[in-house]
Amino acid sequence: MSPRAGKKRPAPRLSRAQRQLVEAALEVRRNAYAPYSGFAVGAALRGADGRIYSGCNVENASYGATICAERNALARAVAEGERRFELLVIATSSSPPAPPCGLCRQVLGEFRTDLPMLLVNPRGEVVRTRLDRLLPQPFTSIP
Ligand code: THU
Repeated sequence: MSPRAGKKRPAPRLSRAQRQLVEAALEVRRNAYAPYSGFAVGAALRGADGRIYSGCNVENASYGATICAERNALARAVAEGERRFELLVIATSSSPPAPPCGLCRQVLGEFRTDLPMLLVNPRGEVVRTRLDRLLPQPFTSIP
């Protein structure tokens, strides 16, 4: 049996820039408008220009009109002229931290199919992943 068997993996070490993005995702999550599900989500993207673009989920009485945090962050970045991304942090209260929904995976893949991600929660849990692991065969163009 490996010496780590049964032990919790230590939290991965984060760089300053990564910690800053985690803080931004946790912070914007506080603005989530989620009166129907009660599930608040925050997302923060770092653009190639170093700037941070954040977004939260915005729900609607017509449930299907809800917009996820990730797509709101992305739309904000694109509207500001950024299309190249280094890292996405997604903050939820889930343990383990929740990955993005399928629709958001597809939309994020439009800009970077191997986008690195950190999934986090307010308890300090961090999961590192990448979009091409979560969405291995994205639809990218009409033939
Ligand atoms: N939600 C997100 O913001 N991002 C996801 O990737 C998953 C789901 C939101 C939508 C809705 O407001 C709530 O979480 C419950 O589904």
